[in-house]
Amino acid sequence: MAAFEDGKVQLTLTIKWYGQLYETAIGHSPLDVVAWHGNYAPMRYNLKTYCPAGTILFGHPDPSIFAVLTAPSGQPGVNNIDLVLFRERWRVTEDTFRLPWYHKNIMSELMGNIYGQYDAKPKGFVPGGMSLHNMMLAHDPYKNAFEGTSNANLEPRKLENTMSFMFGTRFPQHLTQFTAQGAPLQDDYIDYWTDIEKKFNGTPGKK
Ligand SMILES: [Fe+2]
Repeated sequence: MAAFEDGKVQLTLTIKWYGQLYETAIGHSPLDVVAWHGNYAPMRYNLKTYCPAGTILFGHPDPSIFAVLTAPSGQPGVNNIDLVLFRERWRVTEDTFRLPWYHKNIMSELMGNIYGQYDAKPKGFVPGGMSLHNMMLAHDPYKNAFEGTSNANLEPRKLENTMSFMFGTRFPQHLTQFTAQGAPLQDDYIDYWTDIEKKFNGTPGKK
């Protein structure tokens, strides 16, 4: 049964938009609607049933290949919002750095760890934790993850017990005061990149 509130009542409606609170007076409850709009309907989806696809020879596809749901904008390739899932899967690529590259993105990336360990961030990014890399902000693997992956044998490997999600959006994300100051923060987050060694020496890499 859908719950609702009917009848005239003086209420203050508070709306949060872009980190600010706005309010207005209304003469009825906003919960006096019992209907779905068009073909919108609430649903649950078991992420365990999502089958990821990936490269099976070499190269590193854009992580949007793991999109579960997408809300396109009028601009091809730049979506309003994508829900992306990084879950258990096989890694089989040859001659390929298998972690996400160091990059900055035209989409903002809000990631969350549901369970297990995310391969590019072996420490700190704990289940229940979230990270935000806003658009055009450089990021990715921690130094130990980079070194470990760079020196590992490229044999087929199954990533087990891991599930993280990402919301990618073409819009910049603002922090609320709670997320910036009140929530438990990983204060040493930035330190994991400070001792990344320079590898470039002006000569072509191994082919
Ligand atoms: Fe990213």
